Formats: sequence, C-alpha cells, structure tokens
Amino acid sequence: MIHSNMEDAKKGSTCPSQQKGANRQNEQEAMIRDTLSKITHKIFVLSGKGGVGKSSVAANLASALAKKGYRTGLMDVDVHGPSIAQMLGVTDLLDISPDQQRILPKQVSENLTVVSVQALMQEKDQAIIWRGPAKTGMIQQFIGSVEWGNLDFLIIDAPPGTGDEPLTVVQNIPEALGVIVTTPQEVSLSDVRKSISFCKTVKLKTLGIVENMAGFCCPHCNQPIDLFKSGGGEKTAREQGLTFLGSIPFDPQVVISGDAGTPLMLEGKDTAFTEAFAGVVDKITDQLQ
Ligand SMILES: Nc1ncnc2c1ncn2[C@@H]1O[C@H](COP(=O)(O)OP(=O)(O)OP(=O)(O)O)[C@@H](O)[C@H]1O
Ligand SMILES: [Mg+2]
Repeated sequence: MIHSNMEDAKKGSTCPSQQKGANRQNEQEAMIRDTLSKITHKIFVLSGKGGVGKSSVAANLASALAKKGYRTGLMDVDVHGPSIAQMLGVTDLLDISPDQQRILPKQVSENLTVVSVQALMQEKDQAIIWRGPAKTGMIQQFIGSVEWGNLDFLIIDAPPGTGDEPLTVVQNIPEALGVIVTTPQEVSLSDVRKSISFCKTVKLKTLGIVENMAGFCCPHCNQPIDLFKSGGGEKTAREQGLTFLGSIPFDPQVVISGDAGTPLMLEGKDTAFTEAFAGVVDKITDQLQ
C-alpha cells in the first residue's frame, strides 16, 4: 500500500477524478494530524548552507534527549542526501505494520527510534530525480505514514536551503520549532540569514542558532585553532534577535562516530564536543519547560 501510494506521489496525481484526489489529500492530512497529536515537541533542524552539520546536530540532539530519558524520534526527510541512517547505524530501514499502512521506525536505543526517507528508495545509492510536487507529495505521505506512537520529541532533519523539503515540513508540522545550524564564517552566515528570513516568512518559531565547527583544539600543541573563524553565530543571533544556543567545537571524533553509526551523545563519552553539546541541549529543554 505504501509503495503504490509512493508511485502515485512520483507521478504527481494518477487519480481518475479530482474528487478521489481530494479524498486522498484529506485522508493524508488526517493521518498526519493523528501521528503528530501523539508527539509533544517537534524540532526542525535546518540551515541555509550545506555541510554545516545539520544531520550531525540532529543525530546528537536526538541521542542526547533519548539519553536524558525522553522518548525521542528522529526523522530524515532529506530525499537527495539522507545521512541519518548511516549516522545511527541503521540498516534494513523499511519495516511495515501488519496492515501494510504504516512505516515502523527502527529502535536505536531504549528511548530512540529513527526513520529515514531513504527507506523508500529501492537502492541505497540510488539518485532521486524528482520535481517539486512529487517530492512534496512523497514527504507529506511519509510524515503521515510513520507509526511513532507517543513521543516527547521528534527531531526532523532536512536538506539545506529553503526548497521543497523544508517548506513541506513547515506546512505539515506548523507547530515545529526551528534550530538553525551554522558554521562561524561569513559564507555560511549569509546563507543562514536567508534561513532566518525563511523562518519569519513561513512563521516557523525558532529555538535559536547553534554554531558548529567553531574552533579546534590542535592535538599536537593543544592550542585552539579557529578553522572557520569564531563568534559569527553568536553575532548573527544577537543581530537577528534570536537565542544563541551555543558553540560546538570541531572534533574529528564526530566524523568517526558519524561514519561508525554511533553519535557521540549516544556513546556518552566526555569530550569538549559532548560538553558543549550538552549545554545546547540544556538551553533547548529549558526553553520548552
Ligand atoms: N563539530 C564537528 N566536528 C567535526 N566534524 C563535524 C562536526 N559536525 C559535523 N561534522 C562532519 O561534517 C560532515 C558534514 O556534516 P553533516 O552531514 O552533519 O552536515 P549537513 O549540514 O547535514 O550536510 P548536508 O547539507 O549535506 O545535509 C560530516 O562528515 C560530519 O561528521
Ligand atoms: Mg544532512
């Protein structure tokens, strides 16, 4: 059932009549509402620029919340470059409920479940070449199809920019709160200002800005190196009237743990990264209490 609907989404609409299309749309909206009604907080991790660490922040945020005892779900809607499954070490992504109507998320740890749009791709390395409406339809259906059950938090990871995927998330999860990720240098910040403008335009409330890859401690001389400058995230937050959630250092362990499928915040190691990240998580949960 899920697959055949996905085929429809790819083609746009294949319904013989508009009425049938409208019914399906209503059904889908009802499913989304039902799914989301069981989730207390939805956090959407976004950025204007690619490669700044959105997926790493999403994976570590979900891991940290789960470690704190919150029932947490992590959803990847990055159709073109999904990386959450890899970062969480999840394979065999597609589990379907017995009635064939729902996607079942994968259990990663006691309180953490994960689902990725990658589950709907036939081959892991398959490129997805879809136009906007097909992608929108697919993500919409995906959001409504996942059987999360009751959650305290749902963390959503999307591709960079202000295109179809982020827009579809905001339109379908209007109560989501944004966490904007940037790196400290101007090239990233200028794109982040576009993200902030996007949030204002679509009325997405934000929890604040995280500055990622801010500083690196040289393992040879133990001196800090500002790989991508420093302070830009905080300055932008101040200028834009947003909360600054904190700076997270560059740490090669993040790359290793991401590739290995165990986010550092799930491992629970004590490092400069995990210490800084815990501060970001506290600032987020404090705002929500
Ligand atoms: N604080 C960090 N220290 C070191 N490496 C990091 C850090 N944050 C992210 N990375 C690494 O940078 C790379 C890009 O990160 P990630 O995939 O999370 O970015 P992204 O913003 O989600 O990218 P995309 O725009 O393609 O979705 C990954 O290899 C990741 O492990
Ligand atoms: Mg990503």
